[in-house]
Amino acid sequence: MLNWDDYNVSETSAASAAPAPAQPEVVAAALDTMETAAPVEPVAASDMAKAAADAVANIDTAPGLEELEMGAARISVDEKAMINCRADLNQLVPFKYDWAWQKYLDGCANHWMPQEINMTADVATWKSDDGLTEDERRIVMRSLGYFSTADSLVANNLVLGIYRLITNPECRQYLLRQAFEEAIHTHAYQYCIESLGMDEGEVFNMYREIPSVAKKASWSLGKTETLSDPNFTTGTTENDQQLLRNLIGFYAVTEGIFFYCGFTQILSMGRRNKMTGVAEQFQYILRDESMHLNFGIDVINQIKLENPHLWTETFQQEVIQMILEGTALEIEYARDTMPRGVLGMNASMMEEYLQFIANRRLTQLGLTEQFPGAQNPFPWMSEIMDLRKEKNFFETRVIEYQTGGALSWD
Ligand SMILES: [Fe+2]
Ligand SMILES: [Fe+2]
Repeated sequence: MLNWDDYNVSETSAASAAPAPAQPEVVAAALDTMETAAPVEPVAASDMAKAAADAVANIDTAPGLEELEMGAARISVDEKAMINCRADLNQLVPFKYDWAWQKYLDGCANHWMPQEINMTADVATWKSDDGLTEDERRIVMRSLGYFSTADSLVANNLVLGIYRLITNPECRQYLLRQAFEEAIHTHAYQYCIESLGMDEGEVFNMYREIPSVAKKASWSLGKTETLSDPNFTTGTTENDQQLLRNLIGFYAVTEGIFFYCGFTQILSMGRRNKMTGVAEQFQYILRDESMHLNFGIDVINQIKLENPHLWTETFQQEVIQMILEGTALEIEYARDTMPRGVLGMNASMMEEYLQFIANRRLTQLGLTEQFPGAQNPFPWMSEIMDLRKEKNFFETRVIEYQTGGALSWD
């Protein structure tokens, strides 16, 4: 938070440390000296001006234009492609993928900030001895432990891996919005951890130290290694499949499966009127995440459509295997976080829910369901995902919004 008083103080002290104003006679003497001094040849300035003029004159013949992704002509929609596109990437329009632009607009319309949410009741509940059971406290800790680093993993993969490889301006526009939303999510988790006065070292290191959390993080990190190599490029079947592997690993598994046990647990807590501030943060995050997931599925399916040779039988089997691995890891996480029934749910209900979610991911990718007949034991989850911000599920009141404000809930 900016403190303008401090700013004035520092200005004042800067002024007091500055040299005293020159006296008129001193200035006059200096001018006299200048008139008699030999003129300084502006050789250096003239050379620099000439060099600048030469550089400007040579801009359109300079090498490396293709690397700047600037095409040689006006683009037409037909030239645009999801990957390996050689047309100008600096021209947003004409749109080819209207859905990507629409998702960008929807993401902006859903904008929120963590400080808008009142955490007062959560702080009181968390700090009281009988506010939550041990099992409920474990769920809050594990959720913040996993998510506080998971969204950074997603953001880094987005910015350092996939952004440069998705060669379409309207999709990049959405990716920029998504990257900011991931920053907001990491902010939200940090804000919860700080508000509740949790041990930050313990929470932020769970992705290394708690096996059920670490395995999920390590699975996602394994999918990002190749793409975050700055020398990695697409353009061969092998590398284009590598990009698809990454997109499926992050959009369909990390954001599409790994988030669901923790979200369901925290939102169930909110439905029981416990930790409603944390639950409201998760509610907004879930709404963003369901859009990230849908965007990712559309991108993956568009790449398949434009490059059918990538979607081989062997590759499809590999994708099914990835979804099954993700489901197994999330079931393991469910068992670790719910050793007993809690909040009206238990690990075997969560297992069925995750199988239902896995089936959904498989069909979204055009693959066969692997858990026939799996039902959704938590239908209220889909209702929450579709809620608009104005219809606040928990009926907590959004506090006055302060951009960049730092509010204290104590
Ligand atoms: Fe996120
Ligand atoms: Fe996300």
